[in-house]
Amino acid sequence: MRFSRKFFLLVLVLTLAALVGLQLTTAQDQAPIQIGVAVAQTSNVALLGQEQVIGAQIAEAFFNERGGVNGRPIQLVLQDTAGDEAGAINAFQTLISANVVGILGPTLSQQAFSADPLAEQAGVPVLAPSNTAKGIPEIGEFIARVSAPVAVVAPNAVAAALDINPDIKTVAVFYAQNDAFATSETGTFQETVTARGLTLLPVQTFQTTDTDFSAQITNVLPSNPELVIISGLAADGGNLVKQLRELGYTGLIIGGNGLNTSNVFPVCQALCDGIIIAQAYSYQADTEINRAFVEAYTAGQGKNPPQFSAQAFAGIQVFVEALTRLDNVIPLETLDVAQTRALLNAFILTGRYDTPLGTLTFTRDGEIIQAQFYVAQIDMADDGQTGQFVFIR
Ligand code: ALA
Repeated sequence: MRFSRKFFLLVLVLTLAALVGLQLTTAQDQAPIQIGVAVAQTSNVALLGQEQVIGAQIAEAFFNERGGVNGRPIQLVLQDTAGDEAGAINAFQTLISANVVGILGPTLSQQAFSADPLAEQAGVPVLAPSNTAKGIPEIGEFIARVSAPVAVVAPNAVAAALDINPDIKTVAVFYAQNDAFATSETGTFQETVTARGLTLLPVQTFQTTDTDFSAQITNVLPSNPELVIISGLAADGGNLVKQLRELGYTGLIIGGNGLNTSNVFPVCQALCDGIIIAQAYSYQADTEINRAFVEAYTAGQGKNPPQFSAQAFAGIQVFVEALTRLDNVIPLETLDVAQTRALLNAFILTGRYDTPLGTLTFTRDGEIIQAQFYVAQIDMADDGQTGQFVFIR
């Protein structure tokens, strides 16, 4: 009796110890894999960054529901970059020290040229969700992007404008000269205008912090352009559109990638109507992954997903699928963080991803290879407050 009681206690203790051990092992096995997200959650650039946070968080929930990385969940570590270079550098430094396996970010190319070299030096893979300036993947071996560059996206908007008005002869171009992306994008727009045999009026410059554009507008309006092209960000770009209309411009307006958000609606309101914007994403793309993404996005947001959210989703998807392929070859728990980051980078660049943006691959440099592009036009409702992007090409 005594013996069996002792025996019973021993078995109980051993069972409890085994359970605790098992629990510890399970908890360790399932410790989430941390992926950094460094985008603008504050400042004017948050007009773009907020859409990126939504897209990344939808991806986190979506892929975790489907088992994460071979059963191990991912966890986003969000770090606000705000709108400038210093904010992006701080966010990157914090995430690198926090041992994330990779970073999705930053929002602006202007920030990427300052912050990405830190990740490059630390050997941390970066996926740029919206850095469309020329030269981003060339920053280093660890820098790739899921955001197609201006050179392949922007010319589509000019083609769409000429479809709408084949009589366009004279074009006015405005760009934010303190922003690397806007400077790069206007270069593509100006080349496209010239290549199409159109007359380019003297180019007008501004700052992303400007609020009054009347001087630049009055420089070109007397020449009667039939098309205006703006490369800036959402707040400045939206104000420029508003002031162009208020000063009597009635022709077509192309907005660049920095205006590609419904967050411009409160800025130019009814006067946003008709802005033409090239797109690297369409919510109408009829693929399984896009239907699932659109469903998840509309369930939370009550509207169709925009490009910035879709690109952020695609970036997290690339991380998850590359991590999964790596884990299949070399179990992640056998690697330290430096090894994980280095191997993850190699797996990212050699993968093929069926994303809401379409099927993506990368060049060896980390440049995105994407097949489908679109053009949309803003259609504002009569209330002047709400609107939508209507796909025209
Ligand atoms: N596409 C913009 C950039 O590259 C947001 O900065």
